[in-house]
Amino acid sequence: MNELQMFQSQVSAFWPLKDAVAKYTFVTQRCKEISTSESMEGEPLSALCSPALVVDVDKVKRNAQRMMERCHQLGVQLRPHMKTHKTLECADIMTGGSRRCIVVSTMAEATFYADHGFDDILYAYSLPFDKVERCAALSERLDLFQVLLDHPDALERLRKRPLKGGRRWHVWLKLDCGNGRAGVLHSEPEALQLARAIAEADGVELTGVYAHCGNTYNCEGVEQIQAVAQETTSFTLQFMEKLKAVGISCRSSIGSTPSCSHPVPDMGKLSEVHPGNYVFYDVQQSVIGSCALEDVAVRVLTRVVGHCPHRNQLLIDCGWTGISLDGAGKLPSGYAMIEGHPDLKLLSMTQEHGRVEPISGPLDCSKYPIGSLLTLIPYHSCAAAAMHPVYHVHSEGRLMGKWTPTRGW
Ligand SMILES: Cc1ncc(COP(=O)(O)O)c(C=O)c1O
Repeated sequence: MNELQMFQSQVSAFWPLKDAVAKYTFVTQRCKEISTSESMEGEPLSALCSPALVVDVDKVKRNAQRMMERCHQLGVQLRPHMKTHKTLECADIMTGGSRRCIVVSTMAEATFYADHGFDDILYAYSLPFDKVERCAALSERLDLFQVLLDHPDALERLRKRPLKGGRRWHVWLKLDCGNGRAGVLHSEPEALQLARAIAEADGVELTGVYAHCGNTYNCEGVEQIQAVAQETTSFTLQFMEKLKAVGISCRSSIGSTPSCSHPVPDMGKLSEVHPGNYVFYDVQQSVIGSCALEDVAVRVLTRVVGHCPHRNQLLIDCGWTGISLDGAGKLPSGYAMIEGHPDLKLLSMTQEHGRVEPISGPLDCSKYPIGSLLTLIPYHSCAAAAMHPVYHVHSEGRLMGKWTPTRGW
């Protein structure tokens, strides 16, 4: 008995007859999903079991193309970040097929991409000491594997693990230019001291200076985004001048999706930029002003699984395991936007259930039969994508295949 037959027999033996139509629909969809992905090609999105993360490949390509053109016009190298999707297919689209010049945020991503022919990889996470050996292995294997640090102890760790084959560690210094997360504060004398120590250390090369302007996520509108982009760029360029004054030259990189969606001309004086989320975008980016809502390439499909008129609510099959809890309290529509239903709000979620209610007024349950589909536009696509083991890719609503992300750290 194969998986499909086993599932069918389990269903007929144990499935109670109540709500037979909804359950029949569920069973046929589940059967289709089990009976291989190829058989779903060309089918509408409604053929998928929910919750499902669906990716509009045309929008992905358009978002990627626009970023490449923007960087080309600025005269700056684009080093796209892979953290949003973590797939080979999307990485190919973002690199224009070159499979070179990417940023990753985990060693799982670094290894995954290295294993599939990618090179010139920057692991842009302040060097974790438990991963030095894995970094060394990739540095000895790839043409160009680069690490990042913001503390003298991390440099010491690298010095204590010389690379084989006459290779040198390629190191980026992480600067904090106002983001307030990792990095040495750009204005502190320690920043210049650490840059000099990296440049002078045996077996180590100062490859670049990296400042992530995640503080653009506090902005609303292009003007505010560009003010933060300008500030980060200016601080970084000033730091490059200080390096030059002591005879050190290296690359420079700043970026985030908001800043790189609306770059300021001075960003053309940098060597690189490193945005990532732009390939999918999301509701958060549209609220900040990075993109239009129509640029958002991902959705989470969900179905109505319950009517609760006594609470003026619907239940859906998307809990936080389907979209994440990112975005709490940020939108009038709750944790996501419900496409085509501006009157509805995703109020709360438990692991496998979501509660939906009208933003105001009474709910007409008959408009949302059990089993009917709702489409959620995620607040934060990186978080929503991270909840899914597979993404269903479509063009104009017809399924084309699946992308499988890497996971772990
Ligand atoms: C260190 C670092 N670099 C680059 C990026 C990419 O920025 P964005 O997601 O805004 O495109 C991120 C995102 O969190 C990041 O943490």
